[in-house]
Amino acid sequence: MTSDDANLYFDHAATTWPKPATVIEAMADAALIAGAAGRGAHQHAMHANDVVNQTRQSIARLLGQVDPSRCVLTNNGTHSLNAAIHGLLRPGDHVVTTTAEHNSVLRPLEHWREAFGVEVTMVPVDHEGKVDADALLDRITPRTRLLAVASASNVTGALQPIESIAAGIRHRFPADAAPLLLVDAAQSIGYVPLMPQSIGIDLLAAPGHKGLLGPLGTGFLYVGPRADAVIRPWMHGGTGSQSESLAMPEKLPDRLEAGNLNVPAIAGLHAALACLMRGDAIGNADAEAITWPEAIAAIVGAFQAIEGVRVVGPTLAGPSRLAVVSFVVKGYLPQEVAAILDASFGIRVRAGLHCAACIHHDLDTMPHGTVRVSLSHHTRRSAIDRLIDAVAQIARSAIS
Ligand SMILES: Cc1ncc(COP(=O)(O)O)c(C=O)c1O
Repeated sequence: MTSDDANLYFDHAATTWPKPATVIEAMADAALIAGAAGRGAHQHAMHANDVVNQTRQSIARLLGQVDPSRCVLTNNGTHSLNAAIHGLLRPGDHVVTTTAEHNSVLRPLEHWREAFGVEVTMVPVDHEGKVDADALLDRITPRTRLLAVASASNVTGALQPIESIAAGIRHRFPADAAPLLLVDAAQSIGYVPLMPQSIGIDLLAAPGHKGLLGPLGTGFLYVGPRADAVIRPWMHGGTGSQSESLAMPEKLPDRLEAGNLNVPAIAGLHAALACLMRGDAIGNADAEAITWPEAIAAIVGAFQAIEGVRVVGPTLAGPSRLAVVSFVVKGYLPQEVAAILDASFGIRVRAGLHCAACIHHDLDTMPHGTVRVSLSHHTRRSAIDRLIDAVAQIARSAIS
């Protein structure tokens, strides 16, 4: 890997890359020493227990000092969302969601709609990818068990009004009749503070391998008290606890953690969280580095000024946003733009529907989708300049 490779990688919304060196070291150490967590009392098993417990505590701190036992460890964001959706829904329920959701929400919901008659109401988003909190709240009925909303769109980067949605649920419904709020934090975790307990989020699903800088194969689900009262296990198996019972243990996190945990990857996530909490994300020590809000402002501003380029989603004056920019170039398919950026400029971006097809109807980008540039915590100004210059050259070539 050259330093250019790292600087010109703009696909951090898929997974951040490269990972900090301490993450790799922690994974290698755990692979050499750790046994199975929660299974046995010998020193290798105890080492694995320590890794898991410390990571759970770090996640609990990140979420605003929640109870660590409410932080269920999973393999990725999709796993966390499935644990929430399959664990909560019952035949005949109603769910309110948005057209901006990822397939990791929409496909489990579609399964429940098809197999068990769950009614799914999808509230459209505006042309910047943002949902209106009242439009969502107005669709709640007495049968609504769940509201499922991503805190940020992985297509446009628009941040959704999660606090207003949570406050609206609290104000409109008594606690015993209020639907549960599931927030998909896949794109926002690590970039913006998310405090589920103080905001009123019942379930928060997140991967560890995106903005948290952890390895692939990590994630978690925060389960708040109201969700704890009703959520059932969606996977059943060994937990290392209450082995005499054929039923899954009632206590969290065991209820939702069947099977051996991926201890080496969890050790990597622990090291990544330590980096983030020290304010030591990758690129931080680089004198040329700029932060993601500065980089996004530069990219969006420059793209808006290039003839033939349309920024899809919030512009600079639009709603608050994350480090994700979608765009299209007149005269080219998004896939062609991504291929040219890769082959001719060494710039890695993603093109297409980004596993979130429904939002493209609202954005007028069906059927081919968009080119997506996504950043991590820091980027070099020179890399941003190269990206802008490359996109300008491609746009010019379509016109001439
Ligand atoms: C908004 C959103 N939700 C869920 C996911 C799924 O996360 P994972 O890739 O960790 O399964 C993604 C992945 O990109 C995403 O962007």
